[in-house]
Amino acid sequence: MAKIVSLINMKGGVGKSTLAVNLAWQFAGYTNWLKNVLVVDLDPQFNASQYMLGDEKYKKQISATNRPTVWDVFEQRTRTPSGGGPKVISPTDAIFNVVTYTGGSHIDLLPSRLELAWSLRQPAEKEHLLQKFLGKVADDYDLIIIDCAPTESLLTTAAYLSSNFILVPVKPEYLSTIGLPLLARSLREFHEHYDDHHVELAGIVFNHASDYAPEEATSKREVNDEAKRLGWHVFDAEIRYSRSYPKGAREGKPIFTTSKAHQTQKTAFHQFAQDFARRIAL
Ligand SMILES: Nc1ncnc2c1ncn2[C@@H]1O[C@H](COP(=O)(O)OP(=O)(O)OP(=O)(O)O)[C@@H](O)[C@H]1O
Ligand SMILES: [Mg+2]
Repeated sequence: MAKIVSLINMKGGVGKSTLAVNLAWQFAGYTNWLKNVLVVDLDPQFNASQYMLGDEKYKKQISATNRPTVWDVFEQRTRTPSGGGPKVISPTDAIFNVVTYTGGSHIDLLPSRLELAWSLRQPAEKEHLLQKFLGKVADDYDLIIIDCAPTESLLTTAAYLSSNFILVPVKPEYLSTIGLPLLARSLREFHEHYDDHHVELAGIVFNHASDYAPEEATSKREVNDEAKRLGWHVFDAEIRYSRSYPKGAREGKPIFTTSKAHQTQKTAFHQFAQDFARRIAL
């Protein structure tokens, strides 16, 4: 049964998609793990889908086709992008194989598209649909990673309901600390409303760390104080600022195969992946 983890932070641009995709590549591609991983792109911006497939392939194989996406999962009872009536979406139709490694592990993607934003207009009774869908495939994977949008919506509730854990990337700068109380409140309200489902906080991870003083040190101290108050874990391992991440997104590659990526950056990410795997008992 897969461990299901949502990457979430109400603050935008903190690295949710970057981490979602790179963690998938690490756990499936590294010989000491070789896990089967599914990435669920739960953001109408579809950044994770584009990152994993590359722009060209995304357009050709997803957006220009009637292929079901995560949008269809939310619209099973209403209509589908292909124009048909209500239809239960089968995982084999919607899940896309991104890569299969020689060791046998693979990464699959449940892609997203812009139209997912339309599902938010009529959110009633859609929040359980993703959980049900993932329930059908959870035995096929070791890890399912859900890349969330930065705003609170039906999709956030769907992510919480589907997940065992949440992982919170934080950029160590002043405005990032503002997202944490919003997230804490969102999680508290979720647990009050859905008291039969518990989501555990895997932890906060600093991303974009560069030791820029004194702002970064102050921000980290503030985040650590807030985390302590909330009883949230903060990972010791940090993900360093590196131009290789945006470069990797352009190349459609993980940090460990991005051209000219520094070994220190790769090692830092690997260290975090190890800590994270231990934390969720992967
Ligand atoms: N460690 C890093 N070093 C340098 N650039 C990074 C790093 N992590 C992420 N980035 C870049 O920062 C930008 C935002 O990252 P990303 O899209 O992963 O954030 P996000 O939290 O998913 O954003 P959104 O809230 O819009 O979904 C991207 O251009 C990405 O390539
Ligand atoms: Mg994103």
